[in-house]
Amino acid sequence: MKHILLIGKMGQVGQELQKTLVSLGKVTAMGHEELDLTQPEQIRMAIGQNQPDLVVNAAAYTAVDKAESEPELAWTINAEAPKVMAEEAQRLGAGLIHISTDYVFDGRQNTPYTETDATNPVSVYGRSKLAGEVEISQIYARSPELSYGILRTAWVYGCYGKGNFVKTMLRLGGDREEVRVVADQVGSPTWAAEIAGAIAVLSQNALDQVQQPESNLPIVNGLYHFTNSGVASWYDFAVAIFEEAQLLGFPLKLKTVVPITTAEYPTPAKRPAYSVLANQKISTLLKTPTAHWRQALRLMLTELHTELH
Ligand SMILES: NC(=O)c1ccc[n+]([C@@H]2O[C@H](COP(=O)([O-])OP(=O)(O)OC[C@H]3O[C@@H](n4cnc5c(N)ncnc54)[C@H](OP(=O)(O)O)[C@@H]3O)[C@@H](O)[C@H]2O)c1
Repeated sequence: MKHILLIGKMGQVGQELQKTLVSLGKVTAMGHEELDLTQPEQIRMAIGQNQPDLVVNAAAYTAVDKAESEPELAWTINAEAPKVMAEEAQRLGAGLIHISTDYVFDGRQNTPYTETDATNPVSVYGRSKLAGEVEISQIYARSPELSYGILRTAWVYGCYGKGNFVKTMLRLGGDREEVRVVADQVGSPTWAAEIAGAIAVLSQNALDQVQQPESNLPIVNGLYHFTNSGVASWYDFAVAIFEEAQLLGFPLKLKTVVPITTAEYPTPAKRPAYSVLANQKISTLLKTPTAHWRQALRLMLTELHTELH
């Protein structure tokens, strides 16, 4: 039976991965309490002792604004820790699946970003995540027979984890009659459960590759963009959240969503104005197009409503 080591089990995506990876083999799942990614020796020990066939990393420093004032910590968790994971996994002959972000781009493009488009992060978080990608790619380039995948995703929300835009909107909409939301940044809202589904397919392919090292090329190799399909601004997303939530019977005081500009809502970190990712490469591997963001939102809110009521 194949053995998967899941790192970051308590995050939004990590909790969904606990559900989707279980059918692929034995899963050892570790959270912050069991493994502190600021301690390289702990990472080496976790991988060395477990001897996994595949490491899946869903942990990261994800506080985009706070990263501007904690750049060393963001770098340690997002760049140094994935480097150590890749070194140890590669030494063992194991595969690695890692998650990255649309914030590796500057947002100046106006067509969906492909995996080969030039990166140019505009925040500490984006730079630290890009550095993690580069470390992993360089280490796995030395072992072309091994599978590794870096899945860039965007605008993640889900039922689990410490919080996200959907939960914030539901809370604000429950307390206030008016919410002001940025309308000049666009991207693709993506449900954590869908990311975990895509990672399970990548993981299965990577494990198959580990089983057949004599075959020519790794099936999973390099960068993949994965988001729900369609495009929305944060304002569009908020309006959709309230419409769907109302239909499901969430308690809401909200009457108006007011579109505002990024300039009216200054944040410590700059964010790309346009960060839509092209999903063609992964759709071929998944053998299906990704679901539309509005459909995924409806499913997530239905699940959340069932859990809460
Ligand atoms: N959220 C988004 O909108 C978004 C967008 C694009 C890409 N991504 C990427 O998607 C992946 C998953 O994101 P997510 O939203 O699921 O993240 P999340 O909910 O913030 O979860 C991240 C997990 O990493 C853990 N972690 C942080 N520092 C750690 C440390 N020093 N040692 C061990 N664990 C640590 C956190 O534990 P604690 O809470 O205990 O610290 C948390 O459980 C990440 O790679 C992220 O960069 C996210």
